[in-house]
Amino acid sequence: MRHFLEIDQLTETEALALIERAFFFKKTKAYPAYRQSSVANLFYENSTRTRISFELAALQLSIPVVNVDLQHSSEQKGESMADTIRTLSAMGIQMAVIRHKEEYIPHTLAKTCGESMHIINAGDGTHAHPSQALLDMMTIMEKKPALAGLKIAVVGDVRHSRVANSLQCLSALLGIGELVLIAPEPWQPVALSYGRLTSSLQEGLSGADVVMCLRVQRERLLAEEHLDLDDYRKHYALTRKTLSYAKKGAMVMHPGPINRGVEIDSDVADGSQSVILQQVTNGVFMRMAILEAVGLS
Ligand code: NCD
Repeated sequence: MRHFLEIDQLTETEALALIERAFFFKKTKAYPAYRQSSVANLFYENSTRTRISFELAALQLSIPVVNVDLQHSSEQKGESMADTIRTLSAMGIQMAVIRHKEEYIPHTLAKTCGESMHIINAGDGTHAHPSQALLDMMTIMEKKPALAGLKIAVVGDVRHSRVANSLQCLSALLGIGELVLIAPEPWQPVALSYGRLTSSLQEGLSGADVVMCLRVQRERLLAEEHLDLDDYRKHYALTRKTLSYAKKGAMVMHPGPINRGVEIDSDVADGSQSVILQQVTNGVFMRMAILEAVGLS
């Protein structure tokens, strides 16, 4: 895998092989050592779990990793991102993990980075978050491996969610039985790549095996001010009551970070159906599989 940019670049076999490899790492704790490789983390947008997850994944594979301090980097002196990547490549760095608030930045950099550099997308704007989709699917398969019979419901700001976008692509690729995206009208996307839309939480959750709750992106709400938080909560929050619309024992997921008491109540986030922390755990193994696949190419 030359670069890891989005789910659509993968075949079903490749996606399943990455997930299988992540399960292998989790089960065996047998980690190969890739000391000759090296990774740079470039997070132009805030992140806790994804950045640390990639860093830890690299360290567990004995891959030297540098976290580029972008606040104090030469980009503050006007250096372009492409030049930063070429500079890192000249130092011998082999992989760059990139998160950016603009869509398709990792794709653009992949075109200009040169032969010996590999780009990994850790989230580009509202477009894609492919490592999150894989770790979410790994977490689902751990409990419910029969994907063709599964109903997954996603609730929240679907329109602006790279998590929802990549999950649609992966659900299509792996043949998830049913994918329902639940959102109020302003947060409904114009088009879906898989699944169907509804604005009714009760109808959408009905019979769901998995409920994925998305974060209310307050930073965007404040900027665009087109949806009332209390109103959103009243109709779309995942509470003990609304969770009961889903199948008994349905898995509760959230990519994090969580706004407790906004899109999800604490007793649901911390309840027995929640696998939110398993998602975080699995994320490290999933990223190990991704770094290995890209690094070995
Ligand atoms: C998501 C992201 O940043 O895309 N979080 C994550 O990567 N775990 C979701 C979000 O920020 O809402």
